[in-house]
Amino acid sequence: MRRIVVGFLGCGNIGCGVWKLLKEFDADLLHRSGVQFDIKRILVRDVHKKRDQMVPQELLTTDPAQVTDDPEIEMVLEFMGGETPATEYMLRALEMGKTVVTANKMALALNWHLLQAAAEKHGSGLYYEAAVCGAIPIIRTTIDSLMSNRIETMMGIVNGTTNYILTRMSQEGGEYADVLRDAQRLGLAEPDPTSDVEGFDAAYKLSILSSLAFHARVPFSVIYRQGISQVDAVDIGYGKELGYTMKLLAIAKRDGNVIDARVHPTFIPNDHPLASVNGSFNAIFLHGHACDDMMLFGRGAGSAPTASAVVGDMLYAASRETPRHPTFNNTDALAEGLQVTDNWQCSFYIRLNASDRPGVMAHITTCLGNEGISIRNLVQRDAVDGCAQIVMITHNAGECAVRKALAAMASDDVRVESMIRVEGK
Ligand code: HSE
Repeated sequence: MRRIVVGFLGCGNIGCGVWKLLKEFDADLLHRSGVQFDIKRILVRDVHKKRDQMVPQELLTTDPAQVTDDPEIEMVLEFMGGETPATEYMLRALEMGKTVVTANKMALALNWHLLQAAAEKHGSGLYYEAAVCGAIPIIRTTIDSLMSNRIETMMGIVNGTTNYILTRMSQEGGEYADVLRDAQRLGLAEPDPTSDVEGFDAAYKLSILSSLAFHARVPFSVIYRQGISQVDAVDIGYGKELGYTMKLLAIAKRDGNVIDARVHPTFIPNDHPLASVNGSFNAIFLHGHACDDMMLFGRGAGSAPTASAVVGDMLYAASRETPRHPTFNNTDALAEGLQVTDNWQCSFYIRLNASDRPGVMAHITTCLGNEGISIRNLVQRDAVDGCAQIVMITHNAGECAVRKALAAMASDDVRVESMIRVEGK
């Protein structure tokens, strides 16, 4: 039996989940791995706060050094969230030669280069399966199992809160603000939902995933980000009529040395595997040159699913003789030779409000034609008060060309109501 002494940085929802899994499953873990984890110290903000699990009071401390600097502690688990002070504490633990296991996508996405440099310099391990999509083993799948591939596309539903909101809007026809309020009441969305609904959380995860998939740094700062707060139920309804489901997708594609990396509401055909991922579930669909299409599906958040990934990392780290780091030369900038394009190619859903009189449709199609954009589907509804709703789906086109065409067509006769990217066909 090998005994590994462990310290926690933070003991909220995830920390309590890890505590519970380690305690309730300890005999099985020992039987399977020959390792026993002993939790020695837990950093908390308030030692008197009531916790879900019966964590003994004598383990709690408000002094981070009692975790990061204790020579007996071999493994430090970070569940604090946020960029600071979590990054500083993890850096300290790595400098002290400890293995760090983190669930913190923000600290990792923003300061990965610092964490990796410290891990390499001091021969420490850095593990982060829980930072992206909770229980879904996408990190190790990407690093290890798919190493034999050139991954060309990753498209993920990587945020459960927004997937829950869009699923309900789609199934019930509800408006965004009403569904969000309900999700907050049920504890499924944060009181301040900004990080989820504006796509920050998804963009942190995409930075990590695409960097691993492409073996080249894709910083958070280069990722295009648009959340779901402006999504109109009307568009979800039209999308349904046309055979599409709306999801907030984190998308990364690589073609040679050109990549695009973006988070935005996206229509996907109803028969796409991601279209049936509903509620708070997450899934990552990817395409590799050898493995072809693949999808991983599961729980992306929650106490027990996240603990599943954390404890999995602990066991994996314990089984390795050498520390493990990401598989590319990590910097704080875009990898050398790589170019990010904001002119990605996809189909586009466009909804217009147009005066119902001769020549207006000709103006619309001329603006599209001038930019080389071809229409695949077009629906015009009977006019109300002289205005017609026009909904169209284009063939593949460039983002820049579509923006230019929409700017040219906007006039007294044409109001552009929405433009939504369409992927998956
Ligand atoms: N807030 C995230 C979500 C979970 O809703 O999926 C943690 O990343």
